[in-house]
Amino acid sequence: MDVAYLSEWANLLLRWLHVITGIAWIGTSFYFIGLDNQLDKPAPGNPRVAGEQWSIHGGGFYHKQKYLVAPEQLPEKLHWFKWEAYWTWISGFSLFVLIYWVQAGTYLVDPAVLAMPAWLAVLISAVMLVGGWVGYDLLCKSKHGENEVLLGAIGAGALAVVAFVACHIFGGRGAFLQVGAMTGTIMVANVAMVIIPGQRKMVAAMQAGQAPDPKYGRWGKQRSVHNTYLTLPVIFIMISPHYPMTYQSQWNWLVLLAVGLSGALVRQYFVLRQKGANPVWLPAGAAAVVALLVVLGAPQRATGGAEAPAFAEVQSIVAARCVSCHAARPTQEGIASPPKGVVMETPQQIRRWAAAMRQQVQTEAMPPGNLTEITAEERGKLLAWVAAGAPAD
Ligand code: HEC
Repeated sequence: MDVAYLSEWANLLLRWLHVITGIAWIGTSFYFIGLDNQLDKPAPGNPRVAGEQWSIHGGGFYHKQKYLVAPEQLPEKLHWFKWEAYWTWISGFSLFVLIYWVQAGTYLVDPAVLAMPAWLAVLISAVMLVGGWVGYDLLCKSKHGENEVLLGAIGAGALAVVAFVACHIFGGRGAFLQVGAMTGTIMVANVAMVIIPGQRKMVAAMQAGQAPDPKYGRWGKQRSVHNTYLTLPVIFIMISPHYPMTYQSQWNWLVLLAVGLSGALVRQYFVLRQKGANPVWLPAGAAAVVALLVVLGAPQRATGGAEAPAFAEVQSIVAARCVSCHAARPTQEGIASPPKGVVMETPQQIRRWAAAMRQQVQTEAMPPGNLTEITAEERGKLLAWVAAGAPAD
């Protein structure tokens, strides 16, 4: 068992953990936001109860009450929600390190974007991760921190800058994941550094017989609202590596920005709907943004145009540029088994993967970081061959 093989298992197990904990975290987060927005007027009796809700789920009836600030007496047992968020970050960050830092030469650096040594890419990536949180946190705590509209505008501007910078120093896929990791880190840090410590202070005050300071509730609520709007864009970014037409587009930084915008619009729609409104222009706006993406993402690069080459030539291009990784036993260092099960050693195998090859070669997603230095002319030939129906000869 070699390192590359074990690292593939680590990749899979971390990803599994990441998806599960992410579901648990975002699931509770969606649930509580929905609950907050759908509270009914409480039955009279307890002036501290601001709203309540009856619901039915899984064969049981539930009765929840929301207290303004806090109940008179702290209950014996209080359920906290934090480990879902923490484990989402721990697993996600480990996965990011395993793929984008350990293999930075393949996944972060793309010489066609900007040539740099792998260690420098990792350093920049780390500085951006920390800097993103520090900048965001300072902004929220600044004198503009309570002006949500201004904060939203600055946040969108900052996202534009970060997306532009990331997409102009890293390969597309690495840039997307870099922005995703930065956003995810901000979301988890909101829980770990603001929401949970604030709640701790509120509980401590009550235990000391004092009234908790409502500012902690306000601050926590603000960060929790921010997390809501970041959720959909982050999930998009996490699945985007499967779709090179997004991260390999020449407008890839605008794709990131548009996705951020449309995700926030859709989320806003659901938030308002839970409050009883039905602002259909929000999802319509999101659909328009996505339509724009589809147009912007349309391949601009040469789609062959040339006459289809003889199959022997295709085979020799694939052998030179793809097979070091896409073989039953890859020779490329760090690749233990053929990526995504794509093996292109025999004529039959090459033809089998022709359609998949088109997308990868056209968007220049493959070879990753152009490790095998395929030329534009060779790309054109492969595409012309696929366009001609991938003839065996
Ligand atoms: C340095 C190794 C390497 C080289 C060289 C390489 N690939 Fe890949 N290929 C990968 C990896 C890694 C993946 C899996 C990407 C991922 O994790 O989504 C992959 C995935 C693919 C996929 C499947 C995409 C999917 O998401 O289902 C296709 C098709 C593909 N490569 C085609 C090619 C072609 C065609 C070439 C040659 C022009 C090539 N690759 C060269 C490493 C390589």
